[in-house]
Amino acid sequence: MGFGKGYGKVILFNEHFVVHGVPAIASAIGLTTDAEVVRHSGKGIELIDNRKGTKGYSKEKMEHQKEALRRVMDYLGFDVEKNPIRITLGGNLPTFSGIGASAANLVAIVRALNDEFKLGLSDEEVNNAAYEGEKAFAGTPSGIDNTAATFGGLIWFKRGEKNIIERLQIKKPVEIVMGNTGVVANTKEVVAGVRERKEKYPEKYNKIFKEAEELVYEAREALLKYDLKRVGELMNENHKQLQAIEVDGKELNFLVELARDNGALGAKLTGGGVGGCMVALTPGKELQEKVASAMEKEGFQALRTVVG
Ligand code: PMV
Repeated sequence: MGFGKGYGKVILFNEHFVVHGVPAIASAIGLTTDAEVVRHSGKGIELIDNRKGTKGYSKEKMEHQKEALRRVMDYLGFDVEKNPIRITLGGNLPTFSGIGASAANLVAIVRALNDEFKLGLSDEEVNNAAYEGEKAFAGTPSGIDNTAATFGGLIWFKRGEKNIIERLQIKKPVEIVMGNTGVVANTKEVVAGVRERKEKYPEKYNKIFKEAEELVYEAREALLKYDLKRVGELMNENHKQLQAIEVDGKELNFLVELARDNGALGAKLTGGGVGGCMVALTPGKELQEKVASAMEKEGFQALRTVVG
């Protein structure tokens, strides 16, 4: 039996903008998807998904998942007809949209395959294989999700011919709450929508993209200085920019407002948007609990975790 893990992640700044080469900041969270791979006597790949999370997620994403596995196996040159396998997914990372569940599951599977078949893959190669699979879920992924899922930690990421990936060290981890709208979003469609509108309204979009670029450099400084008040304000600003490119949603905006009303230093959507998750900056266990329970009182799932 082979075993592997992939981290979930939260994008703190610049999802969507990152697809078009604007830097972004993301952090792995302390929750993982775990995969087990065993050889079996059936045909091809058998997938057992024991992950918990948003209702309907696995079913909704099944076609993407199948395509992702095909892409990953092709990339690795791994012949599943010759080597039939059973993959079992589990772990404590819930399958919410916006939490990097797709990338975490691909990293976990590649690592488990690497373990069982002694493929000798480096982390870099695991990351590249997961990136190929991510194309099935996100169309033209930036690569930020699989990078966070593979390496963990807080990262600065800029997409390019060669991606720039830097580890950011902050004074100490900080509490966040991730609120789940419960709405499963089609990341591929949302990413394509941004691209279409960007082409259609270049002037408007270029201006917003430039502002998002300026903001993320400031956010990086604020994080490194551990100026959490400023980080929160910039998250609020970033949410406005994401609204301006139309990737927000009713439930997302509701949760963002609710978090701020309950004392979060900042809040924004995170990940693909439209549905999925939002993130609130809530330093200290007490504030984290207050914000998370306010969301739960309204009937939403809330995840308490840390970044950095
Ligand atoms: O919703 P998620 O967790 O798959 O995040 C998608 C992040 C995007 O920036 C929208 C796409 C990407 O590939 O970076």
